[in-house]
Amino acid sequence: MSETEKLDAVALLKADHRKVEELFAQFEKARGVERKRALATQICTELTVHTMIEEEIFYPACKGKVEDDLVAEAYVEHDAAKVLIAQIEEGGPEEEFYDAKVKVLSEEIEHHVEEEEKRVEGMFSQARKAGLDMDALGEQMAARKQALMAQIKAQGVPAPEVRTFTAVDLEEVPVDETGASGQDGEQPGLGQR
Ligand SMILES: [Fe+2]
Ligand SMILES: [Fe+2]
Repeated sequence: MSETEKLDAVALLKADHRKVEELFAQFEKARGVERKRALATQICTELTVHTMIEEEIFYPACKGKVEDDLVAEAYVEHDAAKVLIAQIEEGGPEEEFYDAKVKVLSEEIEHHVEEEEKRVEGMFSQARKAGLDMDALGEQMAARKQALMAQIKAQGVPAPEVRTFTAVDLEEVPVDETGASGQDGEQPGLGQR
């Protein structure tokens, strides 16, 4: 890329946010398996790269400059989103809960973006107030983003890596299973009263 205009860190991250919001809006209007799959792949790619550059470059720079709680929550929100990203990447639009997963992911991201962009107490404004070198960080993130995009073009989207928890094995039970009708009657039956 030969962009002469360099974005500072906040402008770069905000541009990513707007792009993925637009993709979510397009997904909501999309019809047909192929179109949905293409958009979902683009959403997962954008979010994977965005969370990586934030976790590798921006969030570490915020350490000690931005409220600890806010940074910690941002990491956990990223990891929670990665669970759905992995599900969406593995699944397909023909699945029953696919659209719902994309919708819930968009809602999670909407909340997360607000925490980052909120005026005054948001992460970005706290970071700016603390005097982070936004030009240098923007340059580092742009370079890393370009490298990651090239890598994805060659090898596909890497499986998400979580930083704040390890995977828990949860048992999947069909939605219409009540739970109280187990063969041995020993089931606690949380879903039925
Ligand atoms: Fe972000
Ligand atoms: Fe983030």
